[in-house]
Amino acid sequence: MDFFRRYIMFIQLLFMNWVGKLGVILASTAFISFFILEGLSLIGVFRSTYTGIVTYFIIPVIFIIGLILLPIGWQMQKKKTGTTLHNVFTDKLGDGSIGTHNFWEKVIPVVLILTVVNVLFIVAAGSSAMHYMDDSEFCGTACHTIMGPEWQVYSVSPHSRVPCVDCHIGEGVEALAAAKINGAWQAIAAMFDLYNKPIGTPIHNLRPARETCGKCHWPEKHYGSKLVKIERYKEDEANTKQYTTLNLKVDAANGVGSGIHWHIAEDNEVRYSSVDDLREDMIWVEVKQANGEYKRFTNKHLADSTFDSIEPRIMDCVDCHNRATHIYEQPDAALDKAMARGLIDTELPFIKREGLAAIITQHEVKTEGLAAIEERLSAFYAIEYPDQKFENLESSIDAIQEIYDRNIHPEMKIEWNTYPNHLGHRVEFGCFSCHNFMQHEQSDGCFRCHNKHLLDETGATISDDCTLCHSILSLGERDPLQYLLDQDFRTFEEHKNTYFREEYLKNF
Ligand code: HEC
Ligand code: HEC
Ligand code: HEC
Ligand code: HEC
Ligand code: HEC
Ligand code: HEC
Repeated sequence: MDFFRRYIMFIQLLFMNWVGKLGVILASTAFISFFILEGLSLIGVFRSTYTGIVTYFIIPVIFIIGLILLPIGWQMQKKKTGTTLHNVFTDKLGDGSIGTHNFWEKVIPVVLILTVVNVLFIVAAGSSAMHYMDDSEFCGTACHTIMGPEWQVYSVSPHSRVPCVDCHIGEGVEALAAAKINGAWQAIAAMFDLYNKPIGTPIHNLRPARETCGKCHWPEKHYGSKLVKIERYKEDEANTKQYTTLNLKVDAANGVGSGIHWHIAEDNEVRYSSVDDLREDMIWVEVKQANGEYKRFTNKHLADSTFDSIEPRIMDCVDCHNRATHIYEQPDAALDKAMARGLIDTELPFIKREGLAAIITQHEVKTEGLAAIEERLSAFYAIEYPDQKFENLESSIDAIQEIYDRNIHPEMKIEWNTYPNHLGHRVEFGCFSCHNFMQHEQSDGCFRCHNKHLLDETGATISDDCTLCHSILSLGERDPLQYLLDQDFRTFEEHKNTYFREEYLKNF
């Protein structure tokens, strides 16, 4: 009872002047609201990024400000009246139960217990905040403008259930500490608008793939092959459908046969040096040989130049899967996908051509872009087909707007192709798509290394044979299995069909 009385008194004491009052009110309101909010979110009343920010950041900060005000208030009081804490206590109590002889003995336990409670509270709130900061939803939505695009494309990707920290922060104390320091810098950058737009890639402090991807994926796994059927639409009135069917040779080829995951299989190593950070133009590429030496392919166009400063990089998952989860699409491929799924009605004349033209037009602001898509498409059908009523026009426009909304973020300067995907390559049309008669140079993705201008000392290249990475069962044909079905070729255009059928059957 005596202790409780001293507690009440202590608080009254702090109420001495307005600074003290404010301190007590702030600290105790923060203290109580933390537990109320935490309780409500535990029982599931609400749980959003914003309540998290309030509970774990704003409230603890208010609490600490409250605590800091207390000694300030007291100092002010002392200056004004000259009374010490001791005087006030003896005055207040009046009954002489606290005097010079027992002052510290009586007051210290109160101060001590309050201090312990305060420190415990700050530690608890701090660790909740750390935990909360690791939550994907926080990473993705707290700084809405900055991370919004990454969050949007991540949410519809194969890794949408994998927390951001699993790829961006490796295991172990060192990784965690590095990430927190980096995170603190990012918070400051966000506050003062110091970050890059768009956020630059590649990310240098991304943990090595074996620590992140390797936690869940097994590099030497036997992948076999993977049949992919790609549906494409022409830009004609009928939106003519075309099929490309590839059998991707995704195996790790551990000593047997060949395959795409050969690069990262045990014992294999490919390393490279590129002219700059973009990792697009290779100066040289090296492959580890069985005897431990490296065979080098040198870029004939860059042979005379010197680029010493670029540190060689050992190829890992992210050199191909750089868009493992933040998958930005190509405009025409995105439309084709939505058309194949029936989200965009392929019965709408010229919808591929018009949709494409609508989404590749640049706008300063996203809402403007979205409105322009609606306007353009509605106007097109109203003018060109005044007598026809298209039932699915509206839902098709919605689907086209969604593609734009997902991929384009003017506020972060993210346009089409801001973040190119290395998993694949640019596709040329006509005879060049396979022949490369004129040593035509291709780039992008796999063709950054698999091309005609990186030569070893014998003049050999890293193969860019069309069937090295995939068998081709159909290439922009009417039937998805065209080359399997054709027995003999009738026209010159079909000259390759037999070759592709035989290649596939041989490796089947
Ligand atoms: C499956 C692993 C994985 C997950 C999960 C993941 N990321 Fe990434 N992230 C990557 C890779 C890989 C890159 C590209 C690295 C490169 O090109 O150097 C990247 C790049 C980024 C970039 C740079 C911009 C860009 O698109 O290249 C940001 C920002 C980012 N991630 C934020 C996030 C946020 C926020 C989350 C959670 C909502 C998240 N990431 C979840 C693997 C992942
Ligand atoms: C926490 C576990 C986890 C981590 C870390 C992780 N993945 Fe995955 N990944 C998965 C799961 C689970 C799937 C299967 C998702 C599905 O089928 O819906 C998957 C699927 C994939 C796929 C197939 C995608 C598709 O289109 O089907 C690729 C490629 C892939 N991951 C690459 C990576 C790369 C590269 C990294 C590192 C940057 C990585 N993953 C990190 C769990 C993980
Ligand atoms: C950084 C350079 C580089 C990139 C990028 C690259 N490769 Fe390779 N790849 C090589 C080298 C080097 C070899 C071995 C060539 C040799 O020894 O003749 C190779 C070999 C291969 C092989 C044959 C493996 C075997 O079993 O013999 C396949 C298949 C392959 N790559 C597929 C791909 C695919 C698919 C991509 C794109 C997703 C790709 N590569 C991107 C450098 C690269
Ligand atoms: C040389 C480029 C290259 C490298 C390096 C690479 N991959 Fe892949 N990976 C591919 C390609 C190409 C595909 C097929 C893409 C598709 O399905 O459209 C693929 C497919 C996958 C799949 C899906 C397989 C399936 O059967 O659906 C997983 C999972 C995967 N990769 C994980 C990894 C991991 C983990 C690493 C690093 C240890 C890695 N990859 C390194 C090119 C690569
Ligand atoms: C889809 C890939 C592809 C396309 C596109 C293509 N070809 Fe071919 N072409 C091949 C293949 C594969 C062979 C080898 C056939 C065989 O060995 O049976 C070949 C063989 C040839 C040959 C025979 C000489 C040689 O090098 O073996 C000529 C000539 C030729 N193509 C010309 C053309 C012309 C001209 C075009 C454009 C109209 C064209 N090709 C388009 C894949 C293609
Ligand atoms: C070094 C490996 C490699 C070589 C060589 C290669 N490709 Fe590919 N190709 C890929 C990969 C990987 C993809 C992506 C598959 C996917 O969508 O996941 C791809 C995709 C394609 C696509 C589908 C593109 C789309 O989205 O519509 C076509 C068409 C294609 N390749 C044709 C060719 C032709 C023709 C050649 C010969 C000039 C060739 N490829 C050589 C690896 C290769």
